[in-house]
This record gives sequence, C-alpha cells and structure tokens, in this order.
Amino acid sequence: MTLRAVALALGALLAIGAAKAPERWWSPGEGRVFPAQLTYPNADGELGLVLTGGAMPTRGHPFFEPLGPDGRACVTCHQPADSMSLSVASVQERWIATKGRDPLFAAYDGSNCPGLPQGERASHSLLLDHGLIRVERAWPVAGTDMSVEVVRDPTRCNSGEYGPEKGKISVYRRPRPVANMKYLLAMGFAYDPKAGMPLPLDPETGQPVSGNLMADGRALTLKIQMEDAAATHLRMVRHLTPQQIAQITDFEMRIYSAQVKGPHGMLNAGGAKGGPQTLADSIPGQLGSISNQPNSVSGPVWSEFAAWEKDDPALPEAERAFRKSVARGARVFREKMFLISDSAGINSPVGFGNPVRNSCVFCHNMTQMGNDVAPGQVDLGTTTLPFADPQPDLPLFRITCRGKPHPHYGRTILTHDPGYALTTGKCADVGKITLQSNRGLAARAPYFSNGMAKDLRGIIDYYDRRYSIGYTEQDKQDLVNLMRAL
Ligand code: HEC
Ligand code: HEC
Repeated sequence: MTLRAVALALGALLAIGAAKAPERWWSPGEGRVFPAQLTYPNADGELGLVLTGGAMPTRGHPFFEPLGPDGRACVTCHQPADSMSLSVASVQERWIATKGRDPLFAAYDGSNCPGLPQGERASHSLLLDHGLIRVERAWPVAGTDMSVEVVRDPTRCNSGEYGPEKGKISVYRRPRPVANMKYLLAMGFAYDPKAGMPLPLDPETGQPVSGNLMADGRALTLKIQMEDAAATHLRMVRHLTPQQIAQITDFEMRIYSAQVKGPHGMLNAGGAKGGPQTLADSIPGQLGSISNQPNSVSGPVWSEFAAWEKDDPALPEAERAFRKSVARGARVFREKMFLISDSAGINSPVGFGNPVRNSCVFCHNMTQMGNDVAPGQVDLGTTTLPFADPQPDLPLFRITCRGKPHPHYGRTILTHDPGYALTTGKCADVGKITLQSNRGLAARAPYFSNGMAKDLRGIIDYYDRRYSIGYTEQDKQDLVNLMRAL
C-alpha cells in the first residue's frame, strides 16, 4: 500500500468510526438517497458535494441504476468521493475488494483490450496503474488530410479484431468529472478563437454550444454525450428513453463538487470562498475574467482566496502558512508570465503569435472553475512526442499530414492520442485536448487526459519543463497548495 492509500484508508476508517461519512464507493443500484450535501475525507482534507434543489433518491435513477449487460452505471466511473471522476486509488481498492470482479473492470473498456484474458491484473494495467478507460473511435478515414499508422500496440487493441482493419482505433483516457456543468457549458465567447471558426452548433437545435465537453470534443451536448456513454461504457442495446435523458441531465446540472476542507482548516473560512456552495451560487465568468482586474461578475480566477492575502496572526502557524501559500499560488497562476510556445489552438492557427507571453490564466480563465471561457481545444503536448513523458504501455501512432504540414510538428507526428483530430480528421488538430474543470483535483489523481501526471506536483513539473518557466521552489509549492484547495 502506498502512503496515500494508507492515509485514505485510515481517513475512511476514522470517518466510519465517527458514523459520519457514508460508504465511499457507490455501486450501481444501491438505492441510496443522494443528500443535498456530502463530504468525503481525502489525503488533502475533504471533498464537498452540493446537490442544488435538495436530496434525491437514486432508486430507479438512470445515472445510478445498472443499465446494460455489464451491471455498470454512470456512477461506476463517476464516483462522488472522487469528485465525480475516478481516482486510481479507488480503482485499486476496488480491484482488491472484489478480486477484480467489479463491473468497473468489464472487458469492453475496463481492460486494456477485450480480447485479453480477463482474470489477469496485467490485462487491466492501464486502469489499475493510470486510471485509464479504453475509448474506441472510428479509424480516421481516407479523404481527411492525415493518415495514421500504428507504431506500437502494447495493448493489442490497435490491430486485428480491434484495429484499423475493422475501422477502429483505441485510445486511453481518464474519466472527466461530471460536476459543475454550468461552467463547462457556459458560452463566454461569440466564436471559437482557437480555430478562428464560428461556435459549434448543437446538431439537434441548431443553437451554438460551448464546445468544452470530452477530451476530443466528439459530443457537443450532454444528451449526445450520454447516448454515447450508454452505447459504449454501458453497452446498452436500447436507447436511453426521453425520461432517462431528462433525469440524467437534471442530476448533471445540479451537482457541484470542490474541495471544501484543506490540510489546515476549512476553505470557506477567513473570508475565502472555497468549496462547492460558492460554485453553485456563482455565475460563470465572461472573457473579462482573464484580466487581473476584478471586472467580471466574480473577480479574476481564484480570487475566492484573495482574502487570505491578509495575514491572520491569531491562527495556528500551519494554517496561517497554508492560507498565505494558497493566496500566493493564485497570484502565481494569474501573474507569473512565461512563453507559451508551439501549442496549437493558442500559437496557431490564429492571432496570438508564437510564442505568446502570458500565464496559466491565458488558457485557464473561467472564474471559479479554471476551464477556458473560450471554446476549443489546445495541444499542450500531454499526448504527443516530444513533449509527453515516455509512456511505453500506451499505443503510439504516427500521423502523416497529407496536405500542409502541422504548424509546429511538421509533416509527421508521433502521438499516443490524436485527441481532437479523431473528431475533425485534420492533422493540425493532432494532440489537441479540451481543457477540463480544475476543481476537486485532490480527490481524483492522476491528471491530464492520459493520467501522465501522478500527483499535483507532477502537473506543475510538466508545465515547468514544457514551457521552460523557471518557477522557484516557492512558486511550485504555492501552486500545489492552490490546487489542493480547489
Ligand atoms: C467505464 C467508465 C465510464 C462510464 C460507465 C461512464 N463514463 Fe462518463 N466518462 C468516462 C470517460 C473515460 C470520459 C472521458 C472520455 C473522453 O474524454 O474521451 C467520460 C466523460 C464524461 C462526460 C464529459 C465531462 C466533460 O467535462 O467533458 C460526461 C458528462 C459523462 N462522462 C457522463 C456519463 C454518463 C451520463 C454516463 C452514464 C450514461 C457515463 N458517463 C458513464 C468514463 C465513463
Ligand atoms: C497553452 C494553454 C495552457 C496553459 C498556458 C496552461 N494550461 Fe493547464 N491545461 C491545458 C490543457 C489543454 C489541459 C488538458 C490537457 C490534458 O488533459 O491532457 C490542461 C489541464 C490542466 C489541469 C487539469 C488536469 C486534470 O486532469 O484535470 C490543471 C490542474 C492545469 N491544467 C493547471 C495549469 C497550471 C497550474 C498552469 C500554469 C503553470 C497551466 N495549467 C497552464 C492548457 C493550458
């Protein structure tokens, strides 16, 4: 057991002893009542969930009931204690507790490939070691401006029965948190500045949408997303009924999640406004939130911790130091400038130049949430060489641009996950990933779409390397403390 796992287990035990925290793992079909407020201890304090509109019975609710042949529900991969995502610690505990029989480990996408012997740990290594779920998409077809070859196929899911011959490609991704949806669906922009295009349109209503769902932007609305999830993750043969769609949407729009208690005291104390209730009460920010001036509805990103800039000598030393560090971290996030370079979606194809001098907030600017106000996808390098860390257990593809070369990588690109290019078929979109919520981070390691950052420090170390930022040790600790408080 890792130290973190021990701490988690101890935390859970203590909490059960105090008869306070509910069972951490939600199995499908338990029929619990989802309370209006819920907390779960974790290694950095406590995660809080708020269900606006009050408690909700989950008996018969399609997010919580097993649908389809594998006995899975949406909640299987979107666990309340893990900020409605899925931490690798929970996956490992589940493997041990059920000897690998939890529906989570279903062959279809809870194993490296359905063709592998399912009883063995090795066949589920990507889920157990990195928290990754297999995502199967159509092999990019001829006529697009790129061609794809398999360079390495360690999971054996990009060859034979599951590969290009069958028109399929498999990539491996982290479940994204299903919470705080108001922010992800908000439209702060009249067009897509990352591609210089009009906003994407909901194919059903013709109305513009935020374009900020799913790593590769393949589902533009919650409805399309859940139909996709039902057909793939749940392997449902029948379609979700209009009533089930309405119930899932209702839950997704009411659930808010954020760390509510830090390692040293509550995050909504001393004038700070951390925790999920503020998220439920606030209005998503507009473009103004990029600015460091408090000129948007709720001030610049992470200004909910601004009150902690004022020292409070009455506090215990550790709490005092933590509060100051979080407040400094918010400033580093907004104010410490570096050169953002060779990141498609920012440095190309439109407008900002390459490199552009700015801070974390240039891409993460939605107040309260830290996703991007502007729609569209960005290539941070998390899935693509040479920027991604070596990941020998992930498939590797070679993309050849047929028309114009890629603006930053040239004509051939090596990638573990082409990301948005699987949706558009364009070589300029290889490696682009949709920014996700920055909330509830402490509850849902590892990070980035492919789980490359093992912990919060891993996120900062990646950025420091990727953009040669030169953060001081203090900057790094402050950013990590900020992220522990989100
Ligand atoms: C086997 C695990 C699994 C199950 C079961 C599952 N999901 Fe997911 N979910 C994922 C993964 C993985 C992603 C990210 C996929 C991607 O980005 O390509 C995701 C993404 C999402 C997102 C997008 C969030 C965002 O910020 O982009 C929503 C919404 C969602 N799931 C809802 C559901 C619903 C509703 C169900 C049940 C019908 C469900 N999920 C069942 C694994 C799962
Ligand atoms: C050029 C745009 C850009 C900049 C600048 C940027 N990010 Fe990101 N960030 C992204 C993208 C794109 C993702 C999603 C990548 C992925 O999931 O593979 C992301 C994801 C994240 C996540 C979410 C991880 C998760 O798994 O939920 C955090 C936290 C984060 N960034 C923090 C930061 C910090 C801190 C900085 C400043 C050091 C920063 N970002 C600067 C584009 C950017």
